[in-house]
Amino acid sequence: MTIECLDECKWVLNTQKTTYAFGLGVDEMLTHLYWGPRLSFSSDIPEPLRTFHASFNNMRDMANLEYPSQSGMAYHEVCLKARLHDGSRDVILNYDSYSIGDVEIREEKCPKLTVILKDPHYSLTVHLHYIVYEKYDLIERYSEIINTGSELIQLDQAFSAAFYVPEGFPYRLTTISGGWAAEYTLNQEMLVPGKKVIESRRGATSHNSHPWFALDHGNSQECSGDVWFGALRWSGNWKMSFEHTPRNQIRILAGLNNYDFTWGLLPKNPLITPSVILGFTSQGFGQASRNLHHFQEDLILPKKHNKKLRKILYNSWEATYFDVNLENQTSLAEKAASIGVELFVMDDGWFGQRNTDMAGLGDWYVNTQKFPEGLDPLINKVNELGMDFGLWVEPEMVNPDSDLYRAHPEWVFQFPNREITRARHQLNLNLAKPEVKDFVFHMVDDLLNKYNIKFIKWDWNKSISEPGWPDVPKEHQQEVMVHYIKNLYDIFSKLRVSHPNVVFETCSGGGGRIDMGILSFTDQAWISDNTNPYDRLFIQEGYSHIYCPKSMVCWVTDAGDDNLFSLKYRFYSSMMGTLGIGANLNNYTEKQLKIAKKHIKRYKEIRPLIQEGEMYRLLSPRAGNVSAVQYMNVEKTEGVVFIFLQSSKFPENRFRLIFQGLNPESQYKISKISQKLSGRLLMSLGALITLDGHFKSELLKVTQIE
Ligand code: GLA
Repeated sequence: MTIECLDECKWVLNTQKTTYAFGLGVDEMLTHLYWGPRLSFSSDIPEPLRTFHASFNNMRDMANLEYPSQSGMAYHEVCLKARLHDGSRDVILNYDSYSIGDVEIREEKCPKLTVILKDPHYSLTVHLHYIVYEKYDLIERYSEIINTGSELIQLDQAFSAAFYVPEGFPYRLTTISGGWAAEYTLNQEMLVPGKKVIESRRGATSHNSHPWFALDHGNSQECSGDVWFGALRWSGNWKMSFEHTPRNQIRILAGLNNYDFTWGLLPKNPLITPSVILGFTSQGFGQASRNLHHFQEDLILPKKHNKKLRKILYNSWEATYFDVNLENQTSLAEKAASIGVELFVMDDGWFGQRNTDMAGLGDWYVNTQKFPEGLDPLINKVNELGMDFGLWVEPEMVNPDSDLYRAHPEWVFQFPNREITRARHQLNLNLAKPEVKDFVFHMVDDLLNKYNIKFIKWDWNKSISEPGWPDVPKEHQQEVMVHYIKNLYDIFSKLRVSHPNVVFETCSGGGGRIDMGILSFTDQAWISDNTNPYDRLFIQEGYSHIYCPKSMVCWVTDAGDDNLFSLKYRFYSSMMGTLGIGANLNNYTEKQLKIAKKHIKRYKEIRPLIQEGEMYRLLSPRAGNVSAVQYMNVEKTEGVVFIFLQSSKFPENRFRLIFQGLNPESQYKISKISQKLSGRLLMSLGALITLDGHFKSELLKVTQIE
């Protein structure tokens, strides 16, 4: 059974290889019992802690509560903090009832458990929701907080979930941090008593910290070892805390950031928290990533396009910056089409008075100095060349030097009597305002109605500051960051219905707003403004820990020294996800165009393996001079391996490449290796590879022999 209730007070959630269990502990408190490898006998589920002897603690502090609230002797981080109508701040959540049913997600019926907790005195109820994704070995948790009375309840903290890893082990935490042009850096540290917090306060996911974690005992590897992991499905302010308690518990909380947050919970108007996706594997970090990848490809990425191959795009940004016009874009489009590009995207600069970043955001009409007859001549040309046309927009922003700002200065976030901080000469529109939400939807909807646009790159280049929202009563003003994201999601949902054939790309100065929330509405992501092909190996590796290759857009550009990076190296680095070209093709020689064409042709042949196969990180760029990533089809009959050598140092330029994801009993032919070798040997001893020179790369084809 996927979800069972045992002895009327113990709930067990089974996926193919994992079990998650909780039950009633003392005083009707819902207590976490187990999360880890699948248990065959329910008698193996640990019993809840029943007693604890010390006058400084009681069970509210010591038990692993499924949804702890601020009450009594709870001195740890809690999911829910509230101010009740009579001023009390003590929230008791006792078990009330449960239900088990199904929820239809895409074509799949997924089992769902809901457990209801109620305060014994006040009109406060919490529904804890659990959805089980059996074949992905994942569960989804979120909460619904309901005011069943008639008076306002002020929430100061409302996390999605609390969860725990088995006690009595040391734990290592893996997180992802970064900055603009340096996203997705992996960090590892042993947890020690105290609290580690990762979060964003910027109004978006952020470049700096990522809503994902992995925990292991300090010795798990790519292919082996226990890994517990989780990711939030939310694109706004978020927080995860990892609390190592004095009793060696690891209590993890995830959800909406409580920074600058309160929620005026109105009667019968529940707060539904973001989901957290949780998984466990005993097959290392690689399998943790693949479980998330499969889940995203099947159930997160928007349905219309999730099973389609992503097109090879050209993007004008690094070639022409703001200086776009009919002539230079036409010429780029001709070159792009001639080398096999399928989608031509015009980036920033096409609208309003957008000649630099100092003006124009908000004025989403075509700049007629650059495009005297509008966008149609360019779009028609692009279509005649056999490509789709795509456009860059940044709808949630405004430059003070714009007609929109002059007409609606009240649409931006602001506090009275305070300057509004500008960055990149722009300000944030307050999307929580219904009129701004309407404007943004109609602006994009109109563009898509008017022109034959098949792709939108949706950018967001300034973190939110001075988040004032004077239009609503004070008790609701600090809800603004949540309403902002909920409205953003609504806009995307509506656009996806009215324009089902349009593909959307999320971008925020590169990778500042990528998460499982936004990827439920956008098909792919621009993961970094850093397009140096060597730096990219690191950024892309970090990204791959969470997100599937299909969603990862990588451009071949002119960044970095041409003496260091051959076009082949640039292409191989960018072929590991959804390939794009951002180089100035107007400066390419005939020879370069020919090389580019050859690689694009090759990419088209292997694209299904990369975008729809399984990814295996063979050698990490963080670990040394050589890095390698393998992609195999799910049948394990065909694959490719990308290899990169940083610099040649004898004898390290001859190294063993140990493959993964093969059938041990089959024999394989590897291009550039004359001998046919068994999967078993390739996955144990591997094959010896030699690469010479600096910044060298190789692409191996792996084929199972019939
Ligand atoms: C951001 C994006 C870039 C480009 C510019 C345009 O920085 O990440 O790719 O679109 O904006 O201004």
